[in-house]
Amino acid sequence: MNNNGGSMASNNETLFRVEHLHVSVENTEILKGVDLVVNRGEVHALMGPNGSGKSTLANSIMGHPRYKVTQGKVLFNGNDVLPLTPDKRAQLGLFLAFQYPVGIPGVVMGNFMRAALKARRGEDVPVREFRKLLDETLDLLKMDPSFVRRYVNEGFSGGEKKRAEVLQMAMLKPEMAVLDETDSGLDIDALKIVAEGINALRGPDLGVLVITHYQRILDYITPDKVHVLFDGRIVKSGGPELVHELEERGYDWITNPEASGAGPEAVAAGKENA
Ligand SMILES: Nc1ncnc2c1ncn2[C@@H]1O[C@H](COP(=O)(O)OP(=O)(O)OP(=O)(O)O)[C@@H](O)[C@H]1O
Ligand SMILES: [Mg+2]
Repeated sequence: MNNNGGSMASNNETLFRVEHLHVSVENTEILKGVDLVVNRGEVHALMGPNGSGKSTLANSIMGHPRYKVTQGKVLFNGNDVLPLTPDKRAQLGLFLAFQYPVGIPGVVMGNFMRAALKARRGEDVPVREFRKLLDETLDLLKMDPSFVRRYVNEGFSGGEKKRAEVLQMAMLKPEMAVLDETDSGLDIDALKIVAEGINALRGPDLGVLVITHYQRILDYITPDKVHVLFDGRIVKSGGPELVHELEERGYDWITNPEASGAGPEAVAAGKENA
């Protein structure tokens, strides 16, 4: 297993920047000012309790029409992508692996991949080149070649859907990938394969935002930075050690320090204010 520990050489150029992002869904404000910077070569982890807004951030980055950005910016290679439709964002090299990939009955996986690759590259991909890339990627992810003859995500198991998302990522070679709980529902072998697939793509030019609830995947993909999203804001950021702290102590000490009795300072401060 290739545990890509530590940060890869990064040319320190800002690849991706979210600035003071506010997002509403059906007139309810979900994101309340999110700031996040991912440099080239970096992997960031985004954690946080259910309903804190992680998928909202992921979908807003990609341009899902249901998520209305009311304030702030999403900059990719210095350009504001908010005016762009999701397909334009994908062409530029943004990628989202969905938390809940949807089935597309009638659309065969192989054809879908070829069309997506053509769109990403802005030119047709010769059949032989496409086949070679597809076979190599299936092999990397230990996916059965019969997958590509099936309809996209139709009847796929939870784990197969997640692998299919990573297959798309590996084929499209984005510059900035957001993986929304790509580790959820994977058995331990599948998790290792998926992590290996992501690590194989890791490099000085790729930025990754891994949204997860679990330390497990981060044992294989060591993040450069870890953020905690709570109630629509990033309330804590740190290094990889923060993952273990969260695993041990949960979120209470961050989101509700007084009630959780976290740390003598917090309690003392609470008493002084009483
Ligand atoms: N399409 C929608 N319609 C209505 N409410 C929504 C919609 N999308 C998100 N929300 C609400 O926004 C809040 C944040 O949801 P979001 O899916 O971003 O959370 P999350 O952090 O990804 O949670 P989880 O860890 O469970 O995946 C929730 O209260 C959710 O109900
Ligand atoms: Mg989510």
